[in-house]
Amino acid sequence: MTSASAAYNQCLATTNSQCVDVGLSAVPETMLWTLHNRVSVASNPDKTWFVDDKAIDIYSAIDYDYERSFGKAEESHGLRSWLFDQGIMDFWRANPEGGTIVNFAEGLETQRFRLQESRPAGSLWITVDLPPSIRARENFILPDDENLHVAASVLDTREWMHLVPKDKPIFFTAQGLFMYLEEEENRVLFQTMAKEFPSSTIWFDSLAKWFSDKTLGEVGWNLTADYKAPPMPFGANKNVAPGMFQSWVPNLEVEEVPWPLHLASGFFLQYVAPIILKIPILKNLQPGIVWTVKFPPSLN
Ligand SMILES: C[S@@+](CC[C@H](N)C(=O)[O-])C[C@H]1O[C@@H](n2cnc3c(N)ncnc32)[C@H](O)[C@@H]1O
Repeated sequence: MTSASAAYNQCLATTNSQCVDVGLSAVPETMLWTLHNRVSVASNPDKTWFVDDKAIDIYSAIDYDYERSFGKAEESHGLRSWLFDQGIMDFWRANPEGGTIVNFAEGLETQRFRLQESRPAGSLWITVDLPPSIRARENFILPDDENLHVAASVLDTREWMHLVPKDKPIFFTAQGLFMYLEEEENRVLFQTMAKEFPSSTIWFDSLAKWFSDKTLGEVGWNLTADYKAPPMPFGANKNVAPGMFQSWVPNLEVEEVPWPLHLASGFFLQYVAPIILKIPILKNLQPGIVWTVKFPPSLN
């Protein structure tokens, strides 16, 4: 298998029509960052836990200098995608008749291809992302009757809610979304979902407050000399976030989903991070946290 950067060079070196300019900027451009990191895992033959040839193909076909923007790829987004894959497969195991996956802000995620073999026949998958992002996605991944694309903000709930069957179980996912929204926008979205889709579940990740503040500061978060991450206005420390979510929707159940550090590379993540994450004052500063939230059966 080719390495990620070799694959990119192939695209640079050719003028063939496979080499696509996806023309992304601002928050939609961040889907190339997560793809860059995910593909570094998928193209590493030692990481047999993450197989994703489609992501490698898409990565290779995009005319974009990933390293110049995002620097050397690392594995965080591969670990995150693996974790969310487990959540979706658990949902399907619990609902073998097939429930609906609603994937917010899916970008160039190729998750549904990775999970195809586990997917109950006839089940529905709905992707909701901003119009420029859906345009970029549709260069490589087309919707069909069982895989719908909605080109709209998740906040425009009238655009996607009517597509979600209410008589079947629902699993929402949002990888790398809520940090880009304002707290108030997240609150209103949660309250709408709780009202419209009682008993549904959502998995998502969020940032610590210090991390969000860093992206909002004067210097911002510069991944490289050529790329500053967009502002990420929503952040809440690990000890604060559950109470905040419950203040938005009383009686919602919230639990942290632990990072799969056993799959991570390097001494620090495998051996030091698990210890740090047990020290109260430090664990609350954990930069990125994955949550599972179950909305209550009713709002009364
Ligand atoms: C960091 S990328 C994550 C993409 C994908 N989930 C992944 O992990 O590779 C952020 C994504 O959020 C999407 N996004 C940002 N604001 C959005 C909104 N209001 N509604 C829907 N999608 C949004 C962007 O278009 C982009 O696809």
